[in-house]
Amino acid sequence: MSLIEYKGFGGIPLSADMLGDENDPTVLLIPEVGQGRAAWREVADALVLSGRRVVNLDLRDGGDLAPHIEDMRAVLAQMGSRPVVVTAGRGGWIATRALALDGTLLAAGLVIVDMPADEDAVANGVAAQLALPTLVVRGGFSPAQSSAVGDIFNEALPIGQIADINESDLELASDRKEALLGQLLEFLERRQPREAVEFKAGSDPRTLRDAMGCFATGITIVTALDAAGTPVGLTANSFTSVSLDPPLLLVCIANTAGTAPTLREAAHFGVNVLQIGQQPTSNRFAARGEDRFANQPWAPGQTGVPLLGSSLVSFECQHESLHEAGDHFILVGRVVRAQFEPHRDPLLYFRGKYRRLHFA
Ligand SMILES: Cc1cc2nc3c(=O)[nH]c(=O)nc-3n(C[C@H](O)[C@H](O)[C@H](O)COP(=O)(O)O)c2cc1C
Repeated sequence: MSLIEYKGFGGIPLSADMLGDENDPTVLLIPEVGQGRAAWREVADALVLSGRRVVNLDLRDGGDLAPHIEDMRAVLAQMGSRPVVVTAGRGGWIATRALALDGTLLAAGLVIVDMPADEDAVANGVAAQLALPTLVVRGGFSPAQSSAVGDIFNEALPIGQIADINESDLELASDRKEALLGQLLEFLERRQPREAVEFKAGSDPRTLRDAMGCFATGITIVTALDAAGTPVGLTANSFTSVSLDPPLLLVCIANTAGTAPTLREAAHFGVNVLQIGQQPTSNRFAARGEDRFANQPWAPGQTGVPLLGSSLVSFECQHESLHEAGDHFILVGRVVRAQFEPHRDPLLYFRGKYRRLHFA
């Protein structure tokens, strides 16, 4: 994260946190008037994890809204690309005015979260000229102020005259923050397309890996006992369920993996699906030169395979078949036993990073 400074109206300095990769599409976060950028921090971090560049702006001091409009236009003009503008509270009032006339030149979209019922917003007709893809969210941070809020919104932003508007009411969401984030990400994915990257046969394996990394997975530790009865294991996300009858699963193991010879030969192996608290376990079983089982609680299963304590699921498998596949081999196991704890959250992996579940 870096701190940058924009020049607002009249040259006044406006601070912003800049987060994420500069090649990712940008989101400009505008807080409620009187609140600093800390209000958006959690959302900002989540957006970065979802592949966005985030500019989290502080507004100038003072409750007079007119200078904020010019500030926002000045900041947008200084940005290298057109961001989606995401606003809270009266930040939405400011943005609808800042973007009313030529918004499509300055921004790629607008998200208005919890804009208060504001008489001025109704009186000022410029909002009606907004021509940006827009998402209006109510109850994103706190309950909507009154049942009249929706009506006033519709007057302030007449739906018929806006190019593309989506509305979302989060009043009934059990977790407002997660629901807001879900709405936001869904809107961004639809409205802020990125450039596609291409892999062609024969081009670099790194790009192919990046393409494969777009498939979100859980993470497992595949375990077995070597010929001397010592537990071995490695981190693997190439796990797939294969068949219910008979009960089969598979993992793909690199021929170069140190554990490969053991896994090729073992009559039984274990597949431990990790839960959110087992990120250190995943790192340890993927790192070289570590005694992976040193501080790792484990117990032998019915067939003797090492099963890791507190996993989401531990599958105990009998070797079913093995298929050579390029620089990996596909190890198919017949499940003889599965113990699971369904109330835990999974540890996820996506585009080379650990992730957690969030519900829309
Ligand atoms: C998230 C993640 C997923 C991985 N998935 C696999 C996999 O499916 N198959 C594989 O062979 N290696 C996979 N690896 C790499 C191995 O865990 C890593 O190379 C490990 O050091 C191999 O250990 P070994 O050489 O002792 O067998 C993965 C690593 C990580 C971090």
